Amino acid sequence: METVIRQPDEQSLAHAKEIINKGGLVAFKTETVYGLGANAFNEQAVKDIFTVKGRPADNPLIVHLADKSQILWVAKSIPPLAKKLIDEFLPGALTLILERADNVPSVISAGLSTIAVRVPSDKTANAFIAWAGVPIAAPSANTSTRPSPTTALDVYEDLKGKIELILDGGECTIGLESTVIDARTETPVILRHGGVTVEQIEKVLKVKVKTNISDPKKPIAPGMKYRHYAPNALMYYVSYDKPEMVEKLYMQCQPQKTVVMAIENTLPAPKDYQNFCSLGIDARDAAHNLFRVLRELEKQYEVIIAYACQEEGLGVSVNSRMKHAAGENII
Ligand code: TXA
Ligand code: MG
Repeated sequence: METVIRQPDEQSLAHAKEIINKGGLVAFKTETVYGLGANAFNEQAVKDIFTVKGRPADNPLIVHLADKSQILWVAKSIPPLAKKLIDEFLPGALTLILERADNVPSVISAGLSTIAVRVPSDKTANAFIAWAGVPIAAPSANTSTRPSPTTALDVYEDLKGKIELILDGGECTIGLESTVIDARTETPVILRHGGVTVEQIEKVLKVKVKTNISDPKKPIAPGMKYRHYAPNALMYYVSYDKPEMVEKLYMQCQPQKTVVMAIENTLPAPKDYQNFCSLGIDARDAAHNLFRVLRELEKQYEVIIAYACQEEGLGVSVNSRMKHAAGENII
């Protein structure tokens, strides 16, 4: 199958609609990362997403809607807490876990009784979903375990020959995935850190939110138990409070094959490293750049030493991705 990359216009959107109608897959830009979409009501098309990505069947998908008024197409009800989050953050980088409506195939949720719902704010995503005219089930458009795609070319690198069309809306603004929050209960639980920060959510809800992320034996968001976002290189994650460990690790590596990656002005002496990759000047930049940089660095180096961001705001989300990418190598 030939994979074409097109900017969103009437012709390509009509083509996208046609592909979705006949049960095919379309990759599309969102404000977080590129998604790989299928008609959420077409069970076979949803199954094909898992096949194309090589995704484990127990890792549920998010359903994307063009407008927040459509949430009851896929969810049974909107509890008061969810209503507040919807009013404040949607459209945007927040995914809500709600009770799944009976007409939504359970394969999307990997058999769970819940459904993850997201309304993107990006204009390419919205145009595509609106044209398709159905809710769109979509994970990130990378091969499972690879860094998520933030450009059409990243999608092409992973999925060429496997899908017909990539809707190219340019580089994703946020650069990492949405925050996933269980919004069914009085006390909200964050299942994945992402584009909307804990601080932003707490400010709106005026309660402390819980997180259920670090216990790999009991993750409520099944996706968080897998090694993820991993580049084809040996990657180390060094915590923000241990900057001296970056140098120690570096001393054990071959300088020409090794790169140190960090936000500017956070490591004591970045000039000491033969290869230093800046993630930008703050956590927002790091979120925007991380996945793209991982895809670039894996082509040039054998070892990536990633120095964490401060554990606040978007830094928490960036650190979570870096840790997953590093697998066991967390210092
Ligand atoms: O920003 C995003 O969320 C991107 C764009 C394309 O929208 N999508 C994305 O999808 O990151 P994916 O499939 O790569 O990650 C979805 C996450 C996984 O960790 C999955 O386990 C969790 O959401 N999830 C999905 N449905 C769930 C459910 N019913 N209950 C708990 N967690 C769920
Ligand atoms: Mg993903």
